Amino acid sequence: MQRFRSVIGRNFMEATKYKNLGDSDQVKELPQPPLAKAPLPTDTIITLPDPDTLDIPNIDLLKAINERKSMRKYTHTPLTLDELTFLLWTTQGVKQVISRPATVRTVPSAGSRHPFETYLLVNNVQGLKPGVYRYAAIEHVLVEVDTESDGLADKFTAACYGQPFVGSSAVTFIWAADAYRTEWRYGERGYRYMHLDAGHVCQNLYLAVEAIDAGACGIAAFYDDTINDLLKLDGINDFVVYVCTVGKK
Ligand SMILES: Cc1cc2nc3c(=O)[nH]c(=O)nc-3n(C[C@H](O)[C@H](O)[C@H](O)COP(=O)(O)O)c2cc1C
Repeated sequence: MQRFRSVIGRNFMEATKYKNLGDSDQVKELPQPPLAKAPLPTDTIITLPDPDTLDIPNIDLLKAINERKSMRKYTHTPLTLDELTFLLWTTQGVKQVISRPATVRTVPSAGSRHPFETYLLVNNVQGLKPGVYRYAAIEHVLVEVDTESDGLADKFTAACYGQPFVGSSAVTFIWAADAYRTEWRYGERGYRYMHLDAGHVCQNLYLAVEAIDAGACGIAAFYDDTINDLLKLDGINDFVVYVCTVGKK
């Protein structure tokens, strides 16, 4: 049988070599897009505890690395708001906004472009109604996206190829790229970088959950259009890149 030979993937790798790229919008001196999506005055905001005051035990880094594994079965124990805040902080926390302008966060990002918005499917977190939220990282608050629709856990489970641990997770993280943040600086090559950025974010989540007696499982098997529709993303500039479930051991 003929061995599979990529066309799209190989073309993408070739087309995004420096020798094949034109000037980026940054080089053309076009205006830089906003660093993140700010909450609107009409949004319902949930304030989060200060990351410096969280009640989270310290753990040994090597132990966290050694014990990390993908966990797909969780107990019904809820996450506390401190624990959720800790996970948001360790995956996207903004330590500083510098004058370039750029955000400096707890994770690296090519050119410090930080293209992600973090959406949460909240199933079982103390003090939060089940539903969909977005982490506004600069303001360090949660924005309610949808806490009214029925069957959200089932809809996101179906959107993730029917993988049942989405529905049984305490919370599922969904990272969506705002592609132009990275594209503005890197053009087509930026599409490599935003997927590399996502790996750093999710690895921090895998390690951070070890401190709160929880487990995580990264998910790339999802129906892009279905998740984008659920999050009201256009699927062109704003689109889901990576998903990760979290629940207590
Ligand atoms: C990019 C990526 C996508 C993944 N997608 C899924 C997925 O859709 N469903 C799933 O059950 N596991 C998924 N995983 C988890 C892998 O199956 C898991 O990391 C692998 O089996 C190794 O197991 P370990 O993480 O316990 O070491 C994904 C992992 C990565 C890094």
